[in-house]
Formats: sequence, structure tokens, C-alpha cells
Amino acid sequence: MHDQAAKLRESVQHMPIGRTIAVASGKGGVGKSNFALNFSLALSKLGKSVLLIDLDLGMGNIEILLGSSAKHSFVEMIQNRLKLEQIVEAGPDGLDFIAAGAAMNELFHMDGPGFTHFQKEFERAQQVYDFVFLDMGAGLTEESASFILAADESIVVTTTEPTSMMDAYALIKHIKQRNADLPMYLLVNRAIDKREGQDTAARMKEVIRTFLHTEIMLLGILPEDKQVPKSVKMQEPFINQKDSKAGTSIKQLAATYLKPAAETTAKERTSFIGRLRDIWTGGTRNGKDPRFSR
Ligand SMILES: Nc1ncnc2c1ncn2[C@@H]1O[C@H](COP(=O)(O)OP(=O)(O)OP(=O)(O)O)[C@@H](O)[C@H]1O
Ligand SMILES: [Mg+2]
Repeated sequence: MHDQAAKLRESVQHMPIGRTIAVASGKGGVGKSNFALNFSLALSKLGKSVLLIDLDLGMGNIEILLGSSAKHSFVEMIQNRLKLEQIVEAGPDGLDFIAAGAAMNELFHMDGPGFTHFQKEFERAQQVYDFVFLDMGAGLTEESASFILAADESIVVTTTEPTSMMDAYALIKHIKQRNADLPMYLLVNRAIDKREGQDTAARMKEVIRTFLHTEIMLLGILPEDKQVPKSVKMQEPFINQKDSKAGTSIKQLAATYLKPAAETTAKERTSFIGRLRDIWTGGTRNGKDPRFSR
């Protein structure tokens, strides 16, 4: 049994250390899963303990990108009340991941005992991992919105195409209207050159500032890179390809990302499950955000 799974088994009883980060997008196919996987790996290579959960239930593909087949899945954890250490798979470079599983809309039925089980298991994950990444499906369902809103922060991925930018804006608008304080990062993917990436980021920031009266932070810009589709076909993360421009960029992003993350207090890190509970039960976050009730 690998390190983190062994620690999960020991049921450690200390303060949560993990940050939960949702990777989301408006338009589909913009590179979320490739980013989530390779960024998780980059952080893992930098010595962080990272868990990547594929929450694109029914259509997940993290295990395909890794060229491995998971024995269990997130859906099974909920359906069969499995423990986290039973479903966590050991990926490369110390990265742990959880495959999505087959059922559609399983989260919708995850109230009552299923949710209590998830809550208990997730709290243990936060005690063991520095970072828990959630690879979301494209667009916004009530379930994915609830995960994005409950996370400590979210990374919204867009390409430089106007269609992708429009849909990213729509997603950011929806989330910011429900919680203006949620830290959101923008990741511009598939930029032809630095200039195009910077233009996209500047336009997104400007529109968000003008119409939503809020700021979004730029996490970074990843270049268009032929190695990415090649790596997908080889089922090997592009970060491990020597001549991958996107791989080089993502390593730099990961190093920069660690600084602000390290400054967050433990208190801020405790409440993913509490916030998720509020959202699912129609409660409020910070006493001011109306949530949907079920
Ligand atoms: N930087 C890049 N350069 C070139 N191609 C890329 C880049 N990033 C992603 N792609 C390609 O875009 C496609 C979609 O990537 P990916 O599956 O990661 O997107 P996604 O947003 O997770 O999709 P979905 O919305 O279906 O979950 C893949 O075929 C991948 O090869
Ligand atoms: Mg995906």
C-alpha cells in the first residue's frame, strides 16, 4: 500500500491540511482534464501530496489519460459505502487519483446516508493530502455548481476562442453571483503565442471587472502544443514529454501556485464539507449567500 492510502487507513485525527480546488469550464473540451492531471502531477513532483478526483461522473477520463484502469470509482464509493483507501489508486510520481465511475448524476442522489459517508471519507482526505483537485464535467449542473461553490477555490479553463471565453464568462458570472468572495483563477489554454494568451486573459479580466464588478486572478497561460494530443494518444501525461511546451509551462505554473496556497490559514481549509452541506441543504455560506434548496 502506498504512502497516502496507508495514512488514510490510520485514520489520523489532526487538523485538515488540504485545499480543495475545482477545475471547471463553460465550454467542453477546453483541456480541463489534461490540465487537472498534469498540474496535479507537477505539484506532486514538487513534493506535495495530491489527490485528483474525477468528478465527470459517467464520462470521466482521468484513468484513460493515465493509461491505467481503476479497480473502483467515486460512484462505487457512494453506492457501496467503500472507504477512501479502497478506491484511491496510486498514479505516477506519488499522485493519487479516484476514477469517476459509470453512473450518471449519482451525486444527485447522494443525500442522506450517502452524503454522510462521503463527508466522513472526504474529511479524512483533507487530513492527508495537501491538495484535492476536482476535475469537473463541462458546464454547470446543480451538482457541479455545488462542488465549485464549496471548494476553497476554482480554476476556470478557457481557450483563446471567443466561444470558449463566452462560456467561461457565463460560468464565472453564475458562480460569482452566488458567492462573490470565492477565489477564482483563470487558466488560458491553447494559446498560439504569448500575446494571444495575454490578450485573452486581459479581455476576460476586463469583461469580468466591467460587468461583474469583481476580479479574477490569472493562474497562467498554456501554449498550444502538439505533444498534448500525442500524449493523450499514448496515454501518458504530457508533463513527462521532454519536448512539451505545455509541460514546461505547467511546471512553472505549479511552482508559482504553491506560494499563495501556502499562505492560507488552516482555518480557511476546514470547511469544504461544511459548505457542501450548506449548499445541499439550502443553507448559507458566510451568512449571505442564498443557495438552491432541494
Ligand atoms: N495545450 C494544448 N495543446 C494542444 N491540444 C490540447 C491542449 N490542451 C488540451 N488539448 C486537447 O484538447 C482535447 C480536450 O482536452 P481535455 O479532455 O483535457 O478537455 P476537457 O475540458 O477535460 O473536456 P471535457 O469537457 O470533455 O471534460 C484533447 O484532445 C487534448 O489533446
Ligand atoms: Mg474532462
